[in-house]
Amino acid sequence: MINKAIILAGGMGTRMSPLTKAVNKQLLPIYDKPLIFYPLSILMLAKIKDILIIVNKGQLNQYKKILPDGKRLGINILYKEQSSPKGLPDAFLLGEKFINNKNVALILGDNFFYGQNLTSKLINCTKLKNGAKVILHKVIKPELFGVAKISKTGKIISLKEKPKKYISDLAVTGLYFFDKKVVEYTKKLKPSLRNELEITDLLKIYLNKKKLTSDILGRGGAWLDTGSIEDFYKTSAFVSAIENRQGFKIACLEEIAFNNRWIGKKEILNAIQFYGKCDYSNYLKKLIS
Ligand code: G1P
Repeated sequence: MINKAIILAGGMGTRMSPLTKAVNKQLLPIYDKPLIFYPLSILMLAKIKDILIIVNKGQLNQYKKILPDGKRLGINILYKEQSSPKGLPDAFLLGEKFINNKNVALILGDNFFYGQNLTSKLINCTKLKNGAKVILHKVIKPELFGVAKISKTGKIISLKEKPKKYISDLAVTGLYFFDKKVVEYTKKLKPSLRNELEITDLLKIYLNKKKLTSDILGRGGAWLDTGSIEDFYKTSAFVSAIENRQGFKIACLEEIAFNNRWIGKKEILNAIQFYGKCDYSNYLKKLIS
């Protein structure tokens, strides 16, 4: 079982400078909410309540303004600062105490997931006992991601980080589920040529032990990027199109907490006070009316 997760929201967001000079990328808007709401909503949909957010050094106070300790969402949020980005698996070294020898999920703070059946897929992933599990999604430019080649029966045969030569069009998305061995294995990793610990190297350890499984987010699902300014706009446009057509909000944290019965009407009323007069509050009002 997986009850804990880490959101890796470190990094300098250099590709989005000057926007990211004063504000952390994960606090910039994807349409009507800060980016961090989206990966957090994914964990909450997976019914994970114990969350460590890894943030860039010096940016903790900004996060605490919007997501203090999670209590108002019925969850528990801890923070850890990262002095400089050292690659994704560094999350397990920084989070060793938080992980406390338990299974753990990792989601990248800039990953956006959406789709029918996503919640049941996520809950299924949290049932992991041993090994590791990844979510794959077809992309047009696999060379930009970690990529998995799978067999006819859906087993992962090989993995490659940013392959120059085509091996498959299935990208490994930024949502990972690991057993408690993850910290021990991370300690064995050596930095890659770009001088970072690579998540693909970590996954390869599980693959070599025949302990790596996967699920595919099919064509009814969306996994979008928020890596560049252009991607930010495209993802914002996607959220805006869905929300304004259906009237449902994507990644409304209070709504998810309310539906999970982690909070009640009182907490929703407090949230309305907290956010003040805005469209988001109007949405929350409708939820409890
Ligand atoms: C990282 C991982 C890559 C994964 C991607 C998902 O890439 O290294 O395997 O597919 O996240 O967003 P990076 O952000 O370091 O380019």
